[in-house]
Amino acid sequence: MRKYVIKGGNELHGEVTVSGFKNAALAIITSTILVEGSCIISNIPKISDVTVHLEILKRMGASVKLLDDTTVEINCAHLRGSRAAFDDLTRKTRASTYLMGAVLGRFGSAHVSMSGGCNLGSRPIDQHIKGFESLGAKVEIRNGIIHITAPDGMHPARIYFDQRTVGGTINVILAAVRVPGLTIIENANKEPHIVDLANFLNAMGAEISGAGTDVIKVRGVHKLHGGMYSIIPDQIEAGTFMAAVAATGGEIVIRNVIPKHLECISTKMIEMGIEVVDLDDALLVRRTGELRRTNVKTMPYPGYPTDMNPQTGVLMCLARGTSIMTEGVFQDRFRYVDELRRMGAHIQVDGQIAIVEGVHNLSGAPVQCCDLRCGAALIIAALAAQGVTEIGNIEHVERGYDNMVAKFNSLGAGIEIVEFQDEEELANA
Ligand code: EPU
Repeated sequence: MRKYVIKGGNELHGEVTVSGFKNAALAIITSTILVEGSCIISNIPKISDVTVHLEILKRMGASVKLLDDTTVEINCAHLRGSRAAFDDLTRKTRASTYLMGAVLGRFGSAHVSMSGGCNLGSRPIDQHIKGFESLGAKVEIRNGIIHITAPDGMHPARIYFDQRTVGGTINVILAAVRVPGLTIIENANKEPHIVDLANFLNAMGAEISGAGTDVIKVRGVHKLHGGMYSIIPDQIEAGTFMAAVAATGGEIVIRNVIPKHLECISTKMIEMGIEVVDLDDALLVRRTGELRRTNVKTMPYPGYPTDMNPQTGVLMCLARGTSIMTEGVFQDRFRYVDELRRMGAHIQVDGQIAIVEGVHNLSGAPVQCCDLRCGAALIIAALAAQGVTEIGNIEHVERGYDNMVAKFNSLGAGIEIVEFQDEEELANA
């Protein structure tokens, strides 16, 4: 097994380049199922979630070739059919839910196993199902497999989501893109990766308008053709580096960003006393003084992202005074709090609200990642803490951050990856 060993107390200095956006890459890779031609996709992050999705496509009969470190060529012209029941793979990511929409959109039926991903509380798919049913499909779950069929064919529809959902919005776009006629999605999410997916599909011949607003219109086309596309930069990775330098102090330039996508995060950082300078496709982020307390409520884009809740929680721990974090998206986002308490954080959680009393210092401790963004937060806390922190369950971080350790070390972090045998392995040795 492996763990991160981090000696805290170093300021961060230097330049770092952000990789392609995980959540856009996963949606776009899966959407190639709808395309009968070769898609060359660049700026793909090197993370294990992407490896899982490429493996799923290969098992379905796609040709997948890595052209270089960050570019992949996918051809789904000769897929075997509408079955993608690979429980061993789909339970590793949340984005495998997109198989439902993509396979249904391509074949008119789908038989896919259930998805997994971060444990952030109950993650129902009722809105996805509502969307598929509006398009004429029937959905049944049997033996861990979601069977989606449309015995009378699919038809366009007007769908009004009862609840904002990124995954639901993406799935309905995927299912509708090849259904003749006009499908209208109301109360849609506006996240940058929804826009990126629509741009990709449009580049392959789809007719989607309104992505980035809360009404998305999909005019079904007969077929999609191949082409080339580059994934947008990962704003959550950029936000994670911003939070890291805010926690440790220092000055870094974060390259390959779209500052517009980061406005919600930059504004909050500035409120907390961080200097953020927009350099067009880069941000200079500097902390010289003390961190100021703040309140945050996470919500769908363009609100403050839930995927920055844990990293921002660390900053609140280090700020002067009492801050309040309200989680507006997931039921169980605060699992990271127990780990931060081991490092001396003063946080009380009541339902969806965390009250964070700033402490003078966090102290190194053995901690465990409980999900991807918890992992990012623990790295940030460890970098800022006094003493040595050992972080276990680092696979969570590797699922979603490309080359995180090397990137942090290039900024002077000094993170070591240490191999070890746990008690169980030792007992069985
Ligand atoms: N929800 C429902 N019914 C549904 C769908 C969602 O009640 O049918 C609820 C969820 O339980 C949740 C809320 O709606 O409380 C929002 O869920 P949403 O569908 O928007 O999230 P998601 O599609 O499951 C994606 C990202 C998450 C990110 C959220 C919110 C991917 C693969 N995942 O999840 O990313 O936190 O949107 O922005 O794109 C991460 O990257 O660490 C991550 C967890």
